[in-house]
Amino acid sequence: METKVKAIIQKYDADKGFLVPILQDVQREFNYLPREALDFVSVHLDVPTSRLYELATFYRAFSLDPRGKHELSLCLGTACHVRGAPLIQDNIERILGIKAGETSSDLEFTFETVNCVGACALGPILVVDGEYNGNISITKSNKILKKLGKKVKIDEED
Ligand code: FES
Repeated sequence: METKVKAIIQKYDADKGFLVPILQDVQREFNYLPREALDFVSVHLDVPTSRLYELATFYRAFSLDPRGKHELSLCLGTACHVRGAPLIQDNIERILGIKAGETSSDLEFTFETVNCVGACALGPILVVDGEYNGNISITKSNKILKKLGKKVKIDEED
């Protein structure tokens, strides 16, 4: 890990004025900001770790917890909820073997639920790696998970 973080710091000439881009690169490299990486940045740029944690919690793009390679967000806002989003949630949790808010141990998937993503007319909405998928059904969610590499049996067409 140190070699990779060192390379990122060097890319910015160890200039602490580039703290955010440096953290963005670390986030991109590991999919989150590992504590050891933050300690390394702190020592090599002479920036207090408290400042790094401040930035890490301020920007939504940063995560202090490991994130999966694929990020799935299911809308549980009212419109999506009444159209069956809780059933989709159960299905996704069962197939991924994790609960909403968790990341799979192989770091392939992070699944979370969110409130209204502003596309109510197309609900239920499942956002997969930033891409909106509307009118999600059990079958559609199965197809998406299959495409992402999960073994899923598709029973029906819709
Ligand atoms: S309630 Fe789901 S997009 Fe608005």
